[in-house]
Amino acid sequence: MRATDIESDITEVLVTEEQIRDKLDEIAAQVEADYAGKDLLLVGVLKGAIMVMADFSRSLKSLVPMDWMAVSSYGAGTKSSGVVQIRKDLDTDLHGKHVLIVEDIIDSGLTLSWLLENFASRGAEAVDVFALLRKPEAAKVVVPCKYVGFDIPTDFVVGYGLDYAEKYRNLRDVAVLAPHVYS
Ligand code: XMP
Ligand code: MG
Repeated sequence: MRATDIESDITEVLVTEEQIRDKLDEIAAQVEADYAGKDLLLVGVLKGAIMVMADFSRSLKSLVPMDWMAVSSYGAGTKSSGVVQIRKDLDTDLHGKHVLIVEDIIDSGLTLSWLLENFASRGAEAVDVFALLRKPEAAKVVVPCKYVGFDIPTDFVVGYGLDYAEKYRNLRDVAVLAPHVYS
């Protein structure tokens, strides 16, 4: 993809790489303090959370185990269906663990509320959420979120792990996708 394509495909950069890095350091320090002495497990939600997980886990000073779950509620469109499918389950037994779900974005909240319910039934000591991005005005269900990076408007965004039809994940910033790309 050429640089000129990237420029015409996005309308606005919402969060820069530098802002993300600073925020991850800040939240990592909070998480270190909040989970001191606890059996913490980070669970990344594939595929959107790959960049957040990679950078956030390395912002932590202590070694923390991580696992991954792949769910899908989207297909190739831009709206959550609310029907969640497990594509890849966890490899870890959650009994006694303090789980911190690492998410790229909370949009309608439907995916996370389903995940929280699902994890609650697996014997975890606690299940909490860290979402890099949240769209407060798009919420269909309210999801308790312990750590939030940035509240953003309801526009469809890409970059830093977030895709449209598997593209744009390797953009370094979070940017608004131009409507002409998906309409
Ligand atoms: P819900 O609506 O269930 O959505 O909270 C959760 C998942 O949907 C994806 N999502 C997006 N992906 N740009 C994206 O690239 C967006 O603006 C966007 N909004 C939601 C994402 O995978 C999230 O975990
Ligand atoms: Mg996601």
